[in-house]
Amino acid sequence: MSYFITGTDTGVGKTLVSCALLYGFAAQGKSVVGMKPVAAGCGDDDQNEDVMQLRAASNVLASKGQINPYCFAQAVAPHLAAQFVGINISFGRILESFEELNAQADIVIVEGAGGFRVPLNACQDSADLAAQLGLPVVLVVGMRLGCLNHALLTVEAIATRGLTLAGWVANAPDADGTTRRCEASGAGVPSDRLLPQTAGYAITSDLVSVVGSPSRMASSSTSNVSKADMPMLDGNIAALQQRIHAPLLGVIPHQAQPDAREVASLLNLALLEQTELHD
Ligand SMILES: Nc1ncnc2c1ncn2[C@@H]1O[C@H](COP(=O)(O)OP(=O)(O)OP(=O)(O)O)[C@@H](O)[C@H]1O
Ligand SMILES: [Mg+2]
Repeated sequence: MSYFITGTDTGVGKTLVSCALLYGFAAQGKSVVGMKPVAAGCGDDDQNEDVMQLRAASNVLASKGQINPYCFAQAVAPHLAAQFVGINISFGRILESFEELNAQADIVIVEGAGGFRVPLNACQDSADLAAQLGLPVVLVVGMRLGCLNHALLTVEAIATRGLTLAGWVANAPDADGTTRRCEASGAGVPSDRLLPQTAGYAITSDLVSVVGSPSRMASSSTSNVSKADMPMLDGNIAALQQRIHAPLLGVIPHQAQPDAREVASLLNLALLEQTELHD
């Protein structure tokens, strides 16, 4: 089963989670490859950071053209970056590359560009691409102010297209600000529902039931995990758990130096397999 990875915004951790999924599935003995159909923002060497990370996390060697059919120099909205160089992003070419990858690997992890409704050409967007690929979607929620609205609208847009939301991930990409915002909003989880601090943050009983046991989460490296923004995480995660009817695959606290291999141990891939069985 392959997955389309979307996020509540750009810069929320889609690449980090995509790579973690690749490492996680590879550790289960699966052949895996990452795909970034459209990348905007390449260095002078014509390399895109996302594509390089996805390639490094893949154990199937595919060509750059298959992994990343469209790469544009400018780090702007993809349809504008394409327009700037007189190119029209064609879904046909992307679907062809996906099929080639799908034939080579057990699992293809397709990372979308930006958020779910980012335009890709004059009349199609990233959501249309997910629909044409027909893949179950994993939503990465960047746990920052505004994320509840962005997450719920994205969940709605996924459902509207008849796609399966296979799961979502709560990721905390910001080093600070999160706690202050949370406290200001009064969000939080009643203290009697907080379990002891594990892996650097308080895990609620709800979290344990959906994500897995605290010991499993604690088994990941905790050395560079920030403890600063945890109350925000609890309050917002609880709000989303009440409203998103798909499994929370994991919570990724802010880390000084995020490492996708370590993040893989925070994701409960068995929950994705359960979705597969139900479909
Ligand atoms: N939990 C985290 N802790 C610390 N840094 C993080 C965390 N998650 C993501 N980051 C950092 O935030 C930045 C954006 O993450 P990432 O590239 O995965 O986002 P993205 O959604 O893929 O962005 P894009 O829309 O550009 O593809 C990266 O520098 C990444 O290392
Ligand atoms: Mg990315």
